[in-house]
Amino acid sequence: MTTMAAPAAHPTDERHFDARPTRTVSGSVAVPGDKSISHRALMLSGLADGASRISGFLASEDCLASLAAMRALGVRIEQPDTTEVVVHGVGLHGLHGASHALDMGNAGTAIRLFTGLLAAQTFSSRLIGDASLMKRPMERVAKPLRLMGAEVRTRDGTPPIDIVGGRRLRGIDYSMPVASAQVKSAILLAGLYAEGTTSVLAPAICRDHSERMLATLGVRVDVEGLRSTVHPPQRLTGQPLEVPGDFSSAAFFIVAGLLGAAKEGLLLKNVGLNPTRTGLLDLLRRMGGDIQIENPRLCGAEPTGDLRVRASQLHGIEVPPAAVPLAIDEFPVLFIAAACAAGETVVSGAEELRVKESDRIAAMAAGLATLGVAHRVTPDGMRITGRAHGPAFSGGLIEAFGDHRVAMSFSIASLRAAGPIQIRDVANVATSFPGFVELARSVGLDLTDRAPAAERPA
Ligand code: S3P
Repeated sequence: MTTMAAPAAHPTDERHFDARPTRTVSGSVAVPGDKSISHRALMLSGLADGASRISGFLASEDCLASLAAMRALGVRIEQPDTTEVVVHGVGLHGLHGASHALDMGNAGTAIRLFTGLLAAQTFSSRLIGDASLMKRPMERVAKPLRLMGAEVRTRDGTPPIDIVGGRRLRGIDYSMPVASAQVKSAILLAGLYAEGTTSVLAPAICRDHSERMLATLGVRVDVEGLRSTVHPPQRLTGQPLEVPGDFSSAAFFIVAGLLGAAKEGLLLKNVGLNPTRTGLLDLLRRMGGDIQIENPRLCGAEPTGDLRVRASQLHGIEVPPAAVPLAIDEFPVLFIAAACAAGETVVSGAEELRVKESDRIAAMAAGLATLGVAHRVTPDGMRITGRAHGPAFSGGLIEAFGDHRVAMSFSIASLRAAGPIQIRDVANVATSFPGFVELARSVGLDLTDRAPAAERPA
């Protein structure tokens, strides 16, 4: 195997957020496009026959890594506007090998889905990422792909991932040990090229964007309970694809609205409401949150609507482990809500949080400790005792550990903080939510983004 230089570390430590206490948010926001759906739209339209115009595309660093990878694999992609992309599909068998390792940056979804997609190609590929991604577990995708006949190598379970081309794949019926939509999607993508059908059985419901988009592009996908089955197609058909706003980005504003919306509530427009993603809505409502869905509609194959969020007195709950995959990316901000809720909130069965962009249990616990929130860490979750009245957080200097969702969550804490919260290492907010600071300021948060060097005296 060729040795490669370690990937350049992302300059994650170059930016800080200053979140000064404010008490109220008001107005309306439209959050940027859904990250999961944008990745899938690029990959699947690239494999289709004909062109697909993707509107509402999320031009974040993660999705731009997928876009660059598709280009490197020979797909022509135009971007007439930031949120508009035209993909000229090359057909199921039209990709060609990249001349270099494909760098997925911080994007777990990109590296895992591309592993499935590339496992079935005639050419070999290498996938790498930033310092965080290079530590994340990849055997969870490599193992089932090997069962299909692919040759996929990891380095002690982590990237770089090397995929040997020219292997013929056969369909499998795979029982996933973790409820991971990334693993499921990687297997279904490989299944497009396999002999026979490919089925994945999940231990719990997890997001189904791949199944919905494959069906939109003309692939036969059967979903029965927790089992998804793909039938290898002759072709995928390019067509217009619309991406709704990202529920996981809306989540920060949902919690902001519950903590401090003015009388008329905070309106979040065009939010994806796929039921495999909206576990946070159910949990927050059970905590006493007043969140209403307005104008429900379909955006492509995805349920979508507007959310009106009103300030609410929250109380702690016990989160059922089966709800965890439905809210997997929302726990950092749920922990913020829990710190502002009367009594105790208990999260268990959430050990997956330890292998996200950071160890989100440890990262959130460190910040909560600095800000004076009573909590107890467990191997698979956390218990948080909240304060329903008055400030729930002191001020202080905390670390985001390069994790976008940790950084954004602690920004929302400023609505119930006694003093300024400074958050370090926030540059990766751009991986999922470009424009977060501006949007947060537009509803009334007192948040600024700065390079620390700018403050040093000359
Ligand atoms: C994603 C699935 C989830 C989620 C990630 C995006 C996807 O990961 O945490 O941010 O797009 O399929 P797992 O499926 O591994 O839990």
